[in-house]
Amino acid sequence: MKVGLCGLGTVGGGTFNLLVKNKQEIAARCGMPIDIIQVASRNMNPTCDLNGIAHTENVFDVVRNPEVDVVIELIGGTTVAKDLVMQAVEAGKHVVTANKALIAEYGNEIFDLAREKGVTVAFEAGIAGGIPVIKALREGLAANEIKWLAGIINGTGNFILTEMRDKGRTFEDVLKEAQELGYAEADPTFDVEGIDAAHKLTILASVAFGIPLQFERAYTEGISDIAPSDVRYAEEFGYRIKHLGIAKRLEHGVELRVHPTLISEQHLIAKVDGVMNAVVIDGDAVGQTLYYGAGAGSMATASAVVADLIDIARARKQGSTVGVPSLGHNADQLNDLSVVSVEEITSAYYLRILVQDHPGVLAKVATILSEHGINIESITQKETEEHDGLIPLVMLTHVVQEKNMNHATQAIEALEEVAGQVKRIRVAVSED
Ligand code: HSE
Repeated sequence: MKVGLCGLGTVGGGTFNLLVKNKQEIAARCGMPIDIIQVASRNMNPTCDLNGIAHTENVFDVVRNPEVDVVIELIGGTTVAKDLVMQAVEAGKHVVTANKALIAEYGNEIFDLAREKGVTVAFEAGIAGGIPVIKALREGLAANEIKWLAGIINGTGNFILTEMRDKGRTFEDVLKEAQELGYAEADPTFDVEGIDAAHKLTILASVAFGIPLQFERAYTEGISDIAPSDVRYAEEFGYRIKHLGIAKRLEHGVELRVHPTLISEQHLIAKVDGVMNAVVIDGDAVGQTLYYGAGAGSMATASAVVADLIDIARARKQGSTVGVPSLGHNADQLNDLSVVSVEEITSAYYLRILVQDHPGVLAKVATILSEHGINIESITQKETEEHDGLIPLVMLTHVVQEKNMNHATQAIEALEEVAGQVKRIRVAVSED
């Protein structure tokens, strides 16, 4: 099988080197060799020895090359990459991509064209780096109705939160290191503001629930507002703060949300640190399963790219052009569950409220919470004065509808004894 590799950056370089290094093993697994016959990149990668393989700076040369059976798209972005993928599919070539933004935002259209042309567009490498979570959902768990999934699916964000907690490093310092290690997106706000995680969650939810991709409906909140004191107080309650993507099937729709979340330190996923990713999936037959591994990085992500190539080669060997349906369900049998608005979700909450240290303030806050049907699970008043005689009131609530919490928060912020905004972080309860 002859492939054209577009992009020779962190993942492209890893893919090139992995195909060279494990050539024999891969050929034995496919029943045929996989040969890179053309590479398109604007820059050379010092770790790759092209050894006479044709090189071009123009990725569209690869699409026009009649010898190329599969185009590997590792250039990123959603403009040139989209044209490249659509043109490759139009030309009847299979595509393997690590581009989660492209699939989350344009996947419905790309898969439609791929079906029409009888080719595969594979995207495992876009979600959770080297963890084969798409295959796990689409194939290994295909017998289940998936109830929910939750994951740490951005390596950069998890690396930052872990280093800040363990070593007291600054946000900027850790982000710079993540960029140097090749973990971060070209625009690192995609990592820290949760956009990258929302792309991945959108794809996971579509495969889990058999729904069309609905990135524009995902609720996204980043980690840049997490204060060191929140990390400390969460630990005192027995929790860790992680940036989670959560997709949950409801009777009337689907929850799709990315936000910082307090997770009990007893839960395995709370112990997932550094650049590692983990996804927990709850299926009605299997129960909960956990998938853990490197969520970013050159060879880890290349592992998933090459696995997708191997799938295509194996299908060719069997005389088939396409394998399993892209989103698991057959295209004409997708579920029409739509993503519910964040106001409709239910969650427990961590609240940090800066209040004047006067008698009766706690009673006023508690009254507002009770008027909105919000039950307090535990509460602590910190002795530390933050500034101007204000002290933090920190509490955990029981599960409540987001809408009610919004109203209660507004009322609390309107109290004259309360300063600034109430800090709210959602808390995962055991069923999450
Ligand atoms: N920027 C992404 C991350 C790369 O940090 O997880 C892998 O998708």
